[in-house]
Amino acid sequence: MTASIGQVRDIGHVVVLLGAPGAGKGTQAQILSGRLGLAHVATGDLFRAAVRDGTPLGLVAKGYMDRGELVPDAVTIEMLLERLGAPDAAAGILLDGFPRNTAQAQVLDEALAGKGGRVDIAPYIQVPEQDLVGRLSGRWICRAQGHPYHEVANPPLTPGVCDVDGSELYQRTDDQPATVQARLRQQLGSLELVVGHYRDHGILRTVDGTQQIDQVSKDLLAAIADVTDSRG
Ligand code: AP5
Repeated sequence: MTASIGQVRDIGHVVVLLGAPGAGKGTQAQILSGRLGLAHVATGDLFRAAVRDGTPLGLVAKGYMDRGELVPDAVTIEMLLERLGAPDAAAGILLDGFPRNTAQAQVLDEALAGKGGRVDIAPYIQVPEQDLVGRLSGRWICRAQGHPYHEVANPPLTPGVCDVDGSELYQRTDDQPATVQARLRQQLGSLELVVGHYRDHGILRTVDGTQQIDQVSKDLLAAIADVTDSRG
């Protein structure tokens, strides 16, 4: 496969947000992308949109997602590279949910290098495995834009309604307990390898994801500023 990004001429800063399922990547990506002016690119959101729209990609992805497995690299990488070619990538990208294994990490490095770019920093939101099940089983998502809530840790002002856009809240089918267990069983090993990939490149920054949401955001912003300020 040719790891080529397509039409966008330059890509700004690239931040790869790492964490286990339920660690808080989506929650933090929505906050940070607005603060930093980066395009939020979430492969899980792209797959859910494809499933909702009944596209050929969605039909392929659905079975893997329902089983808690990673969608095969060939389709995932093609979808991601196409998204990175959109004009908003020029302002910089905040990746959420990609890469999920070392093959994806290597393709990303290669594709960015083709545009004279690189991953600037990979913040890792670390949360112990025993906390993840409760986070996912209590999660509610808004239909319109995917804003995440938690029935205990981060409830909406009005039950069942998104604070931001007023749309209905729902629970993801892959947040059923059996699928959550499958996701953790099948995905935590490859996450460790991706964490190792960025540690080896000297750009991993670990943040304590068990803190309050706003403190996690502050720690992430500090870690990102540290690197992006020094690299220009
Ligand atoms: P994806 O959508 O990426 O799911 P995920 O990685 O499993 O992550 P989640 O969205 O479940 O969790 P999150 O870390 O974003 O947590 P959130 O902020 O919502 O992927 C879904 C599927 O798509 C995959 O299983 C796979 O099949 C496929 N896929 C996606 N990308 C792929 C790829 N690259 N390759 C192959 N397949 C791919 O928070 C969780 C809950 O915790 C919320 O309720 C939130 O309110 C709460 N919370 C957040 N922060 C805190 C805090 N600090 N304290 C207390 N509660 C908190």
